[in-house]
Amino acid sequence: MNVNKIRDDFPVLNKKAIYFDSACMSLKPVQVIEKMNEYYNEYPACAGRSVHKFGVKLENEVRDARELIKKFINARNSKEIIFTKNATESINLLANSLNFKKVLLTDKEHNSNSLPWRKFKYGVIKSNSDFTFNLEKFTNGIKDYDLISFVLTSNVDGYTLPFKEIIKIAHENKVKVHFDAAQTIPHQEIDVKKLDIDFMSFSGHKMLGPTGTGVFYGKEELLKEMKQFLVGGETVVDSTYSTFVPEPIPAKFEAGLQNYSGIIGLGAAVKYLQKIGMDNVHEHEIKLVKEINTEGLELVGYTGERGIFNFNVPKVTHHEVAHILDSSKNIMIRSGRHCVHPWYNANNIDGSARASFYLYNTLEEIKIFNESLEKLKKLG
Ligand code: ALA
Repeated sequence: MNVNKIRDDFPVLNKKAIYFDSACMSLKPVQVIEKMNEYYNEYPACAGRSVHKFGVKLENEVRDARELIKKFINARNSKEIIFTKNATESINLLANSLNFKKVLLTDKEHNSNSLPWRKFKYGVIKSNSDFTFNLEKFTNGIKDYDLISFVLTSNVDGYTLPFKEIIKIAHENKVKVHFDAAQTIPHQEIDVKKLDIDFMSFSGHKMLGPTGTGVFYGKEELLKEMKQFLVGGETVVDSTYSTFVPEPIPAKFEAGLQNYSGIIGLGAAVKYLQKIGMDNVHEHEIKLVKEINTEGLELVGYTGERGIFNFNVPKVTHHEVAHILDSSKNIMIRSGRHCVHPWYNANNIDGSARASFYLYNTLEEIKIFNESLEKLKKLG
């Protein structure tokens, strides 16, 4: 993987930013930006409705983007790919379309995969003391639930759950599996067919794609069972003043005019990642994190192999750390509770600084980060 060549594709990096906030929002390569502009410049129409040339061209482009995403996660059928505006909307779609008796969550869920489930009975499985998943507790308690909805990779510390074991145990107990994969899909290959995943949600903006794009994946037979959540234009085949006939999937769930430029831009992002290779992306990020000098820092969460680095500098607040890194060296990180308030509250941690990496970050940037951390430690 040639990182310098990759960096040439990201115009914003010319401004010498050291961007370590990709877990929040990834940067976009020119290939994605150009594809989005292509929509506005060449066929800025509606899909699924108009028979004119612009409409037909756009319909084909949306179909191609859906097909690219289908192949990327190895879904059985492109009908299993529902476009949403982000992982949050995807999770809300599931939580509002099926009735679950009891849902199991982990203690590290992002608010997006916690708040939508509170209308059902739910349980929270506590991590081990080293912040890894407690498989034993899970195995013993799973039979009380009909759905598990887990964060596949934590946005707090980059820990990825032992998903193969989890899926096997869940299915042996006839429990459905939904993964919030917003922090996984951008960084490693996930094959929904091979893994037998029932439902999965992710965002486009964390995987080099445009903001306002997301995907909900579900097995075809399960999507057919789900009732509609958002309804309106293009979600019905026919309607009278008192009745309507829903569209088949995926249109059944894609109400109103869509973010067409975003959808086809997301297709371009998938193409870009596929060309680089997800194994290369994953290895590169782990290599970067391993080079961070952790001495004298308080590490937050899981500290094994991971692609996100979460820490505090003793006696300097997390927001001060972020401000100083930005103003002194143009190093952009995120500080706070990272939308995982319950976990921070339960662990009595006020907040933390988080550096998150992607394919465009370099070892030279880590060197500058290490030098800056040395200076910060001296402030404490
Ligand atoms: N989930 C996003 C993050 O962790 C917003 O920064």
